[in-house]
Amino acid sequence: MLVRVSSLSDLEEKKPRKFSINGIEVVIVRVGDKVFAIEAYCPHKGRNLEYGEVEGYKIRCDLHGYEYSLENGELIFNPYGKTSGWYFSPNLRIYKVEIKGKDIFIQI
Ligand code: FES
Repeated sequence: MLVRVSSLSDLEEKKPRKFSINGIEVVIVRVGDKVFAIEAYCPHKGRNLEYGEVEGYKIRCDLHGYEYSLENGELIFNPYGKTSGWYFSPNLRIYKVEIKGKDIFIQI
């Protein structure tokens, strides 16, 4: 189902913003003319990714520094170098984005 999230003008460049869409919380990030939609909470330990830092097409969680691709959700950096137990993180869930005119829609 394609659902409207916001207007493009509601988003500041590289400033993640959380929205609740039909009970699903997503974070929207605009980088230049691209817009990404990701799950709102870090798949590592659940930090709100609205507080994440965006660099290029990746987002760094501010709690433990894990970095995920905004393009495909892949975990691309884990500062601890360990992947089991507490250190494990699945990839980030992403949502397909469509821009129609000045509005942002996501597929949920
Ligand atoms: S909660 Fe995001 S890196 Fe740990």
